[in-house]
Amino acid sequence: MLLPLFLVTILISGGLGTPVRSRPQYQTDDYYTHEEIQDYLKGLAKSYTRHVKLTNVGKTYENRNLTTITISNGDGRKHKNVIFIDAGFHAREWLTHTAALNIIDKLVVSYEENKQLLQDYDWVILPLVNADGYTYSRSGKKFTNETITCSCPCAGDLEIKCWRKNREPNKQGCTGTDLNRNFGHGWGKGDASSNPCEITYKGHSKFSASESQAVRRVLLDLASSGRGVLYLSIHSPVGEIFYPWGAEAIKAENYKEHEEVVQAGIDAMAKANFQFPSIYKQGPLYGLYPTGGTSRRSTRAVPHGQPDTDKPFGWTGLVVG
Ligand SMILES: *[C@@H]1O[C@H](CO)[C@@H](O)[C@H](O)[C@H]1NC(C)=O
Ligand SMILES: *[C@@H]1O[C@H](CO)[C@@H](O)[C@H](O)[C@H]1NC(C)=O
Ligand SMILES: [Zn+2]
Repeated sequence: MLLPLFLVTILISGGLGTPVRSRPQYQTDDYYTHEEIQDYLKGLAKSYTRHVKLTNVGKTYENRNLTTITISNGDGRKHKNVIFIDAGFHAREWLTHTAALNIIDKLVVSYEENKQLLQDYDWVILPLVNADGYTYSRSGKKFTNETITCSCPCAGDLEIKCWRKNREPNKQGCTGTDLNRNFGHGWGKGDASSNPCEITYKGHSKFSASESQAVRRVLLDLASSGRGVLYLSIHSPVGEIFYPWGAEAIKAENYKEHEEVVQAGIDAMAKANFQFPSIYKQGPLYGLYPTGGTSRRSTRAVPHGQPDTDKPFGWTGLVVG
């Protein structure tokens, strides 16, 4: 009896053609560190060679790699439109890279259930822009299990947990540039600050931070490829999708298009079977308060996130091209 069983086993594994691989399993019991995110991406690239490509797009001030994952359905069709998502611009908005990793998991590991999303689109995702700031925010010892409110200026461990900027020192002695005030369009307008000690410090010049340079590089690359690009930058925790413009109170030319795309997203979230009902709203940014130098060219960034929270996270959307 032993021999036939043995043969059957061989036939089955031969028939499947591929050996059983251990695939990276996305864990949701804790927030990934930057290193864990990098390892997770590398694991996906190894296991899903046909669908996944990693690209180092720059380095942080403290020399951490910034890595995008490009996800496609592997059919080899060129010039598909592309959806670019980034997260973690603000160090304390921990939930945002978790959201980005969840999207990656759904597109790569759960490809079969979601493959229609890859039929006509390639996805490029940069899950953690502000890797230095996030690592610093994690380093606080207190408030590990609590929901906290970042009504900074704050001090001590609360200041660490509520850190928002990158970790590049400024000449005046304070640390950090607000990466989401460091972009060129409308730089310095609205609530962007010239004071290096402020949480919305715009940097000493446009694109002075290597992290904002990396995001610009990805966007310019995609834009110059002539493909349609949808850019989503994930922030937390306001629960609103914003679209241009924000540095000035003017409607974008394709305002109606933004409104439609955003409403479709809100409707989809409302229909989804989430534990917490979706309460998303939408609006142009200037309706809130003007802000310049953000990655969405002029849209307003959502304020004051909280690292430990189960509130819905805010999305910010910009349709480019
Ligand atoms: C950054 O990426 C490069 C190329 O993959 C690798 O050789 C290097 O070890 C990485 N650096 C860190 C700090 O992980
Ligand atoms: C946080 O909560 C988890 C689960 O209840 C517990 O295992 C862990 O020890 C807590 N950590 C701290 C620092 O209190
Ligand atoms: Zn933010």
